[in-house]
Amino acid sequence: MEKNFLWGGSLAAHQCEGGFLEGGKGISNMDLVTKGSKNTDREIHNELREGYYYPSHKGIDFYNRYKEDIQLFAEMGFTALRISIDWSRIFPNGDDEKANEEGLAFYESVVDTLNEYNIEPILTLFHFELPARLISKYQGWSNRKVVYLFEKFAEVMFKRLDGKVTYWSTFNEINHLDPNSVSSQFFTYYLSGLNYEELDNPKEAVARIAYNTALASTRIVQLGHKINPKNQVGCVFGINPQFPETCKPETMLANLLENEKELYQMDAMCRGAFPVYKLKEFENDGIQLEIEESDKADFRNGTLDFMGLNYYMSSVTPNEESENEALFGGIQNKYLELSEWGWAIDPVGFRYTMNWLYRRYQLPMIITENGFGAEDTLLPGNIIEDDYRISYLESHIKEMMKAIEEDYVDCFGYLSWAPIDLVSASTGEMSKRYGFIFVDLDDNGNGSGKRIKKKSFEWYKKVILTNGESLK
Ligand code: BG6
Repeated sequence: MEKNFLWGGSLAAHQCEGGFLEGGKGISNMDLVTKGSKNTDREIHNELREGYYYPSHKGIDFYNRYKEDIQLFAEMGFTALRISIDWSRIFPNGDDEKANEEGLAFYESVVDTLNEYNIEPILTLFHFELPARLISKYQGWSNRKVVYLFEKFAEVMFKRLDGKVTYWSTFNEINHLDPNSVSSQFFTYYLSGLNYEELDNPKEAVARIAYNTALASTRIVQLGHKINPKNQVGCVFGINPQFPETCKPETMLANLLENEKELYQMDAMCRGAFPVYKLKEFENDGIQLEIEESDKADFRNGTLDFMGLNYYMSSVTPNEESENEALFGGIQNKYLELSEWGWAIDPVGFRYTMNWLYRRYQLPMIITENGFGAEDTLLPGNIIEDDYRISYLESHIKEMMKAIEEDYVDCFGYLSWAPIDLVSASTGEMSKRYGFIFVDLDDNGNGSGKRIKKKSFEWYKKVILTNGESLK
């Protein structure tokens, strides 16, 4: 492994910050989502209601405790931390004239703290945090106007943090948007604040969000380079590869087409053109996009500097006659174990995905998320024996190292999700824990909020200290 390989973790504002309405923050889409559970979906509200718990309001109070948390990351030897900027902290309504100084000062202080510890800040401009006003006024990303408002927000951030941040990500996981895929229904809200079931023309909305976000990414890449040529602007993709259940040719074809649903936007952002087959597919479905002549030049000139990979699991494309559905479509893989939340544990699938994407796009890659959500037990003496987490991470990091050292994938870092417990994006629970650091809060936000090191804390510290050699 290269000496300057980045080791660290990733966080998202709506899952950790809390600080609801503090420092002039406005309401974002994620502030309107209630707590769910393994078996209950989170509810999406149009406005805040009495008697419900909205987990983003409290998060883990990173907003007020970031110095303490970053100090713990530094103790583990982190050389990188990925955070996201909540757009509604900077432009509370999304389309305000002026940026909110308190919001800017907050992110600048977080970045300064990271730099003091020589931890490379990696900033995601959009990790599902959309000012709620943009939903009621413009229908979120389905309206092209939002592309330009986002650009204004990005420009403010690039300028304010110029010289302090090199690595930027335009979006987190916009690639789950295909008008004909089931998971898009869930992601339509996370990515654009729209309730899929309430839309008049949901397929068109999904296609528009997909096109507009991909276009926005290309414009932000160009903007970032113009403001400072040293800026490295990438995008983070969540890839959950599907394998065919059998080699039956029909299943092979279905499998190919399923995987492509998650990749066409990535093609647009990495290869310099929005795929023509996809535009024809949209047209054939009666979907109208808001396309302008200048878009072609934007796709050509705004290709990514690097790709971020979020990897958790793989799944299977069934033969027509198969039953036994798995999470996020497909069926359960008989060779793999599941986490308590039904996510298939597949370290070799990680190596597979790294090779697949690297060979397809030939761009430098960073692992921006990988981790294991599990319930932890706090034993007397503040002890947490999270061997299951160590085992997941160890097997995945080993496969990543094989991808780098044996397959020559150009990967420059590994960021775990998440280095500290935080609110789960899909369920809103605290009890789906990922961290090396335990946070004493329950699913309703009750508890001291105290930070406690788990067994995995020392384990990851050693991995970083030895640059992965301790796993060999
Ligand atoms: C990724 C998201 O897809 O999965 C994160 O980028 C999320 O925001 C992570 O937290 C894990 O998912 P969950 O639902 O277990 O929090």
